[in-house]
Amino acid sequence: MLRPPVRERLAFREAGPGQGRRDHRPTAARTGRETSWFTKTFKVVADEFPVILQCNQTQAVYIRLIFGAMEESIEGAVMTTQFAAAEQTALVPESELPEPRKSIVDDFAGYRALRRRIADVQGNGQEVPFFQPRDGVSHSVIRRQEKSLISYSGYNYLGLSGHPAVTAAAKNAIDKYGTSASASRIVAGEIELHGELEQKLANFLGTEDALVFISGYLTNVSVISHLLARPDAVIYDSGAHNSIITGARLSGAKVFTYPNGDWDALDKLLTENRASFRRGLIVAEGVYSMDGQILDLKRAVEIKRKHDVLLMVDEAHSLGNVGATGRGVREASGLSADSIDVYMGTLSKTPASSGGYIAGDRGLIEYMRFLCPGLIFSVGLSPADTAAAMAALDILEREPHRPRRLRERARYFRKVARDNGLTVFGDEESPVASLIVGDDKLAMLLSQRLFDRGFDIQPIVRPAVSASTARLRFFLTANHTEEQIGETLPIVAQELEKLRRSAE
Ligand SMILES: Cc1ncc(COP(=O)(O)O)c(C=O)c1O
Repeated sequence: MLRPPVRERLAFREAGPGQGRRDHRPTAARTGRETSWFTKTFKVVADEFPVILQCNQTQAVYIRLIFGAMEESIEGAVMTTQFAAAEQTALVPESELPEPRKSIVDDFAGYRALRRRIADVQGNGQEVPFFQPRDGVSHSVIRRQEKSLISYSGYNYLGLSGHPAVTAAAKNAIDKYGTSASASRIVAGEIELHGELEQKLANFLGTEDALVFISGYLTNVSVISHLLARPDAVIYDSGAHNSIITGARLSGAKVFTYPNGDWDALDKLLTENRASFRRGLIVAEGVYSMDGQILDLKRAVEIKRKHDVLLMVDEAHSLGNVGATGRGVREASGLSADSIDVYMGTLSKTPASSGGYIAGDRGLIEYMRFLCPGLIFSVGLSPADTAAAMAALDILEREPHRPRRLRERARYFRKVARDNGLTVFGDEESPVASLIVGDDKLAMLLSQRLFDRGFDIQPIVRPAVSASTARLRFFLTANHTEEQIGETLPIVAQELEKLRRSAE
């Protein structure tokens, strides 16, 4: 997003080359008499994105870069991450694009950048490593393209997806209720299982009540945007998941960000800005999905109390995994249940299903149950998903050795990584470990080489992370054996070393 002062400086664009009308034509259709307007625009945008001044490209490309930035940042078109500016550097003149223009999105800067990147990967003789179908359940060994692979790409953390009791519960629910809730819950979509799952979640977390939604992503977007509004503020850190950022943006509240884990910076930010907003909500994650840090809940709670703001914790990757019995960061911290104001989590990871939830006090849940648009204007969670999540939570309650084993495996993984000279991000017991390789192409190439050697490890590249932090991300699970980990990491180290040498 452009900062507000830049938006104001670009206000002349409203009365730009179209004599008072907005000019929505593609850049190529605009004429030479518009040049001074372009120059003025260029100065403002270059000020915001100095990276474009360093590009060794023609002026025509600069102008394309300007419009890429403007289309995306001002008109809110395609790119929604904080890396949109860096993305612009990948733009090329349309004449150089490998395919003829044929889509309604050919003029979209984000689409042009995407096509260029796909062409680059294919030009290197590689397969695009995304949307590749696998066979069977996501376990520590999977099958893809007829190959058996040791996999670190799925977040079936405790191996509960594919567990016979979870599968049987989902099948029974389908037999009883069908495959769809067939209506929004507020009207005719409610089934008893919904209430039972919510009660189970609330009991498990120690809150008064809980509410389930049909997607984890939707839960954040809908709950955050419904809870806060214009005189309020949402405060999140540099590692925040896109669903948090989107919810904050849609709320219309002010947005403040701080570097992940920098509690002094958060404290300072709130000291300086607390008077400028009504309600404030800090949104943090139990385990960060990209870098794998585990939240220091004590610090977060200390700061939220000091500045009288609310705290929401997204436990997508910590529910079931962190804390002695998998009850998440609150259990690990030893704090009381009311330390967190809004518990949020997904049902798609450890609970082996799909969907999301919030948990908290009775009033919060009632408010959301009756008024949250993402709940009342959307179908109820499917019977199979509801029953699967309940059965998975049952197993988690009965078998605390599962989260324990996951934490042991995470520690073991990091030890073996160190023994092989690899530096991976994330806390010792975190189920998410990232090996930063620092370059999109290198990350994709390394993933491909490892695939050839029998490992499934996804590359994470722009725009999910910045180009300089492109990485391989490992989801560690209780199902991974020490042998599998011991087999994987020396080969990762060898292949990385080979690629680095060949790049020199
Ligand atoms: C931290 C975080 N929050 C929310 C979500 C969205 O959850 P879901 O994929 O279940 O919709 C994810 C997805 O992985 C996530 O990592």
